[in-house]
Amino acid sequence: ASRTPTLTMAKGFYISKALGILGIVLGVAAACTIIALSVVYAQEKDKNAELSAQVATTVPTVDPSKPTVTTPTTTLDQSKPWNRYRLPRSLVPDSYQVTLRPYLTTNQHGLYIFEGSSTVHFMCQETNVIIIHSKKLNYTDIQGHRVTLKALGGAQAPKIDRTELVEVTEYLVVHLKGQLEKGVMYEMSSKFQGELADDLAGFYRSEYMDGNEKKVLATTQMQSADARKSFPCFDEPAMKARFNITLIHPHNLTALSNMLPTGPSTPLPEDPTWHVTKFHTTPVMSTYLLAYIVSEFTSVNMTETMSTNQNVLIRIWARPSATAAGHGQYALNVTGRILNFFAQHYNTPYPLDKSDQIGLPDFNAGAMENWGLVTYRENSLLFDPDSSSSSNKERVVTVIAHELAHQWFGNLVTVAWWNDLWLNEGFASYVEYLGADHAEPHWNLKDIIVQNELYRVMAVDALASSHPLCTPAEEVTRRAQISEMSTPSPTVPKPSLPLRAEWWSLEHQLNPHRGLFPQSYLQTFSYKSTTYLDLWEHLQKAVDQQTAINLPQTVKNIMDPWILQMGFPVITLDTKTGSISQKHFLLDPDSVVTRPSNFSYQWIVHISSLKNGAQQADTWLEGATKTETMFKTTNEWVLLNVNVTGYYQVNYDLDNWKRIQTQLQNDLKVIPVLNRAQVIHDAFDLASARQVPVTLALDNTLFLINEKEYLPWQAAVSSLSYFKLMFEGSEVYGSMQKYLKKQVTPLFSHFENLTSNWTTRPENLMDQYNEVNAISTACSSGVPGCQALASSLFSQWMANPSKNPIHPNLRSTIYCNAIAQGGEAEWDFAWDQFRKATLVNEADKLRAALACSKEIWILNRYLEYTLDPSLIRKQDATSTISSIAGNIIGKTLAWDFVQINWKKLFNDYGGGSFSFSNLIQAVTRRFSTEHELQQLEQFKKNNMDTGFGSATRALEQALEKTKANIKWVKENKKVVHNWFKDNSN
Ligand SMILES: *[C@@H]1O[C@H](CO)[C@@H](O)[C@H](O)[C@H]1NC(C)=O
Ligand SMILES: *[C@@H]1O[C@H](CO)[C@@H](O)[C@H](O)[C@H]1NC(C)=O
Ligand SMILES: [Zn+2]
Repeated sequence: ASRTPTLTMAKGFYISKALGILGIVLGVAAACTIIALSVVYAQEKDKNAELSAQVATTVPTVDPSKPTVTTPTTTLDQSKPWNRYRLPRSLVPDSYQVTLRPYLTTNQHGLYIFEGSSTVHFMCQETNVIIIHSKKLNYTDIQGHRVTLKALGGAQAPKIDRTELVEVTEYLVVHLKGQLEKGVMYEMSSKFQGELADDLAGFYRSEYMDGNEKKVLATTQMQSADARKSFPCFDEPAMKARFNITLIHPHNLTALSNMLPTGPSTPLPEDPTWHVTKFHTTPVMSTYLLAYIVSEFTSVNMTETMSTNQNVLIRIWARPSATAAGHGQYALNVTGRILNFFAQHYNTPYPLDKSDQIGLPDFNAGAMENWGLVTYRENSLLFDPDSSSSSNKERVVTVIAHELAHQWFGNLVTVAWWNDLWLNEGFASYVEYLGADHAEPHWNLKDIIVQNELYRVMAVDALASSHPLCTPAEEVTRRAQISEMSTPSPTVPKPSLPLRAEWWSLEHQLNPHRGLFPQSYLQTFSYKSTTYLDLWEHLQKAVDQQTAINLPQTVKNIMDPWILQMGFPVITLDTKTGSISQKHFLLDPDSVVTRPSNFSYQWIVHISSLKNGAQQADTWLEGATKTETMFKTTNEWVLLNVNVTGYYQVNYDLDNWKRIQTQLQNDLKVIPVLNRAQVIHDAFDLASARQVPVTLALDNTLFLINEKEYLPWQAAVSSLSYFKLMFEGSEVYGSMQKYLKKQVTPLFSHFENLTSNWTTRPENLMDQYNEVNAISTACSSGVPGCQALASSLFSQWMANPSKNPIHPNLRSTIYCNAIAQGGEAEWDFAWDQFRKATLVNEADKLRAALACSKEIWILNRYLEYTLDPSLIRKQDATSTISSIAGNIIGKTLAWDFVQINWKKLFNDYGGGSFSFSNLIQAVTRRFSTEHELQQLEQFKKNNMDTGFGSATRALEQALEKTKANIKWVKENKKVVHNWFKDNSN
């Protein structure tokens, strides 16, 4: 599965695109965002908990005619296997025949339902009870029981005593009058009915508008534990089996599943308005990877002849209008290249003969890697060159690569239990960049990984509240615990990425020229399941075969500290003595680590280095400290973690920092671009951890006046976003703007030339991103040509509304700046365009930009609009208020508005929703005075009776964060102000 767009918003380069003023959405890489980060992280967790709570509290479908329904009890008798959350190992599924018929109109009770029948073949160890997962399914009795049982191959099956549904553990339990025999294959069949709910889980329905017509489709999301909501099954990832899927569907719609149909669909004899589509038997696979979809969608197709000579049918499915408009074309262009890349990387053919990918209007996760039928949010698969920006395109290619990587790693070889999901996701999150890089070789995607993933994860992992990647299997059994591990929950990126970083670093260390993927791992475990230890073992074999590789310890010993304890180290180099030492890095120096670690928060760290530009021999730090003579110097600069391949931060003695700064200011090209970003990123983090003075971090931005590359600029923009939040309303901001204006002016001119006065776009993706940074920083710091550019482009559009002259990449920032400079006419025009926008992408850009106005009355009116669902959709209300709060002029207005309307917001706009805690976070983000702290405390008191729902935690964190901000401002305001004054001329 893949991260959700919400999380993608946390990425630095998305922040850069959000406008100067609003560019603070989730400044994760920024210094001192300790508390903000814990809020972000907690919200992700909260959302997760909410999802699980929703799942847990949905009223079970109880059939009153059946007396044998066990109701939840607080303590379950654990001696009964059906009271345990994990299946007993007594039965092993072999294959299923599943037939499903979704009704896309309501029945006489106003309910959308599906009907199904299922037969499962399984082998037995001895037992007298059959325990199989089943959730919210109503069974039709056959011969007096919910199921029938047969023995295959001439044996005799025992009689059924009774069946029962155990809701807590989500089982259908079949008690038998005799024993099943070991080694005999049995066949159990049932007929059932379930609700085709719009709950995004199991077999569910999705609705969308086609013009004014409401359309309904049926689709699936099985991960992690919802296949059981579609048919009774042994619903654990290691319980792999083959599946024969048949769908009965309205004759004018298309049925899709993991495999291709065995032939054309045939009319249902008793009602020819329905057709039957049978699919080929799947390979042995896990239930969570099943998929079936009934829709009117259409596709673009091609057949890719792979380098392995295998032919693979590739189809991209979408709403007919989107397909007709060509929005599937980009995905079609890159899929073949990516599949070929992975077949080579893994040295294993693509396991199926087709690859379907479908963009769904209503989908929870970013995407889901169902084998052969991958489901996506529309914006993660479809690309419209006329209205989508380059970052939209980057998202499409990386998400596709991620899901296709799973077709081998995850689908062919599967982790045995959900506690190892981090391995599955971590690995895919790493190789997605390799696959995407292969599809778009000119984009430098391998570099952007540091900005997009590594720094994002470090920000969370540098908190004392982080947690290790690896959780023992026993601690992950209940639904809530499983969904905490798994997708479509938003927490996945967090646990996955340190692994990616570590793997990446290992791969760089071991063999910088070629991937190190141990092909024997896939060969040994195809159609089976594994734990992470199996991978280490095969990786070790690959390492042992490479004589050039010299690891200080085994792969397992090196990896253990990274996955069994949380966090990462800061490596400190003292060039006076040549000593390097490691220490657990914590962004908040006052935080206390309560979680014990068997590794005492030490790691085995691979250290690469440059000395005055020359690469030095690699070394390893295994203990707390060691001395290397090559690092001892008084006149050369030394830089560690070349190209940021290691998952750690670096600090130096002040003299060495000075020498690095001098080098950067004299000739920055000598230092690799990723390290120019690292110097900024790490220094601001170290400053917030009070390990270096804040002025040192600021000194590290001086070279930007000569910098044209995206990554260093992005590191600075992210890091300084916190300064902007804290100081925008104060006198510090004037000098800060002056400084930024001085630094960004050459960059702005550079892009002006490169784009022939903004008429073309740079060719390279990173340049495209940096063009946006240049414009948004230049406009917000008052570079004269920038304001003129924004208003001229915008007035051209106003003069001819049917032809928008602004390139999609630049729209967010141009809209915002034009509206900020403009008055009522500009605002009203943008509002009008927002109301007319048919594309969500475009509407979202306008909706955010409307919050950029500098007119108090306009912002107040806009706030009022958020309470009128006919003007701003309910789902967008809180994010619109958040945008207004992101504008310094709107800060107080939004806060007043939230205080006054709390009850209404809370009651009408869902105290249980994720965006609600976002709202609290957004309106309090800039709080940094005692007065604001008091207001916040008062607000808490005043609304105790209404409550805060899911925002309770966010509110507590806002209080903490405000206190931390007050402290930070107190400590830093004067020195920061002086620094900006001294450096702005
Ligand atoms: C599924 O189909 C395969 C043939 O492709 C067959 O061997 C198997 O028995 C079928 N399974 C069931 C439960 O019908
Ligand atoms: C299942 O049975 C319950 C109780 O009779 C009923 O309320 C529910 O609507 C049924 N669900 C479906 C999908 O038929
Ligand atoms: Zn994934």
